[in-house]
Amino acid sequence: MTNHFPVNFSYKKGEAYIGDVSLKDVVEQYGSPLYVLDSQTISHNCQQFLIPLSESYSNSRVLYACKANLTVGIAQFLYRLGMSFDVSSGGELFTLIKADIPHDSIYFHGNNKTHSELQLALDYGVTIIVDNLQELINLIQLNTTKKSVRVMLRIKPEIDAHTHEYIKTGQLDSKFGSEKDDFEHFFKLFQSHSWIQFVGIHCHIGSQIFDTKPYYELIDTMLPFMKHLVEDLGLEISEFNCGGGMGIFYSEGDSPFNIHDFIINFTSYIVKQFEAFSIPQPMLLFEPGRSIIGNAGITIYQVGTVKHIPNIKSYIFVDGGMADNMRPLLYDAQYMVDKVFKKNLPTQPYSIAGKFCESGDILVDDAMIEEVSVGDHLIVFSTGAYNYSMASNYNRNCRPAMVMVDGSTVVPLLTRETYDDLLRFDCLFNG
Ligand code: LLP
Repeated sequence: MTNHFPVNFSYKKGEAYIGDVSLKDVVEQYGSPLYVLDSQTISHNCQQFLIPLSESYSNSRVLYACKANLTVGIAQFLYRLGMSFDVSSGGELFTLIKADIPHDSIYFHGNNKTHSELQLALDYGVTIIVDNLQELINLIQLNTTKKSVRVMLRIKPEIDAHTHEYIKTGQLDSKFGSEKDDFEHFFKLFQSHSWIQFVGIHCHIGSQIFDTKPYYELIDTMLPFMKHLVEDLGLEISEFNCGGGMGIFYSEGDSPFNIHDFIINFTSYIVKQFEAFSIPQPMLLFEPGRSIIGNAGITIYQVGTVKHIPNIKSYIFVDGGMADNMRPLLYDAQYMVDKVFKKNLPTQPYSIAGKFCESGDILVDDAMIEEVSVGDHLIVFSTGAYNYSMASNYNRNCRPAMVMVDGSTVVPLLTRETYDDLLRFDCLFNG
């Protein structure tokens, strides 16, 4: 199980630990619900990309997809590990600016960047991944000083990755990216604006992908196109971004591929294919989010009520739910769950329900765990990605705190919201 959960997660005399940090102590100090990240797992996950790349394709960068989970502290920690970043909004970019991440380590995505987002990107000098023609027109209008801007173009690879409908992105009818056939329009604008520094192509095929095949298909479909840009249009492709999307383990049935091995095989294929097409090998970029931070995170909840509906089911009601983890409701996502303190009691099936006013607010259905009592704490595993970043204040609840277990110390990343925070933007009615 070690690959699935935080790498140093274990039970000692029935009590859950990350390394030598007792999760019972952590939740007693920081309260519940609580997001907990393990620094060693994040670092291990980054190494899965960085080490094989340094050996097999050193002209490369790994961008952390900030949408997975971002705070100032997370950005600072990842930067120290050698990561660069992709952002998908002005808010994520602003967070990186506040974390002192240098502009040349940031790439900016998004299918509808607003003018103010583009302006922030221009001012800070990040690489802009242009999604569509209108965006390039907006950029041209905004860049009145004609300062040099690094631009990549997001192209739809037209590959159908086998994942949930909502998290596919590479297929033809996707809202993201431009069609290869539209390139001539971009090219004309590149030619007439010499400040546009075209650095290359970006593609992303989807998320939570268990099969490596679509990544190889991506190379096969993009190479003839890139050859056309190089040979017919005289462009230089100095960077090629093949996206993120590597799947992780959430529950039985999930079988993620080994990232280290994938990188070795994939880069050797890329080298071979670029040689076969006789075009120069570009800098290679990856932008994983979930596979960097997903299994490094857990959420700890406290049980408020245990409700037995005779001959039907037993519910455990916890102090969080759909507002801190949207994924079960949104994608039917499955999670593993266990107790913080196990007492060797018999196991039984429970449905773990949240506290929000929505019948669908079920975090885990039919989880087999040992008998639970009011006041116990539960751990939901693999909640490091797309939990906090998609959290809401539904029913005017406060969002949880987040801490990082870093060796034997616990570092706060987010303080728990308060009722005052909830009212921060409310205006008194002065009608
Ligand atoms: N690059 C681009 C352009 C993306 O759109 C995404 C994710 C990533 C990289 C990172 O993908 P990852 O390695 O994290 O799979 N909320 C959904 C996931 C949405 C993913 C959106 N794009 C979920 O909870 O499963």
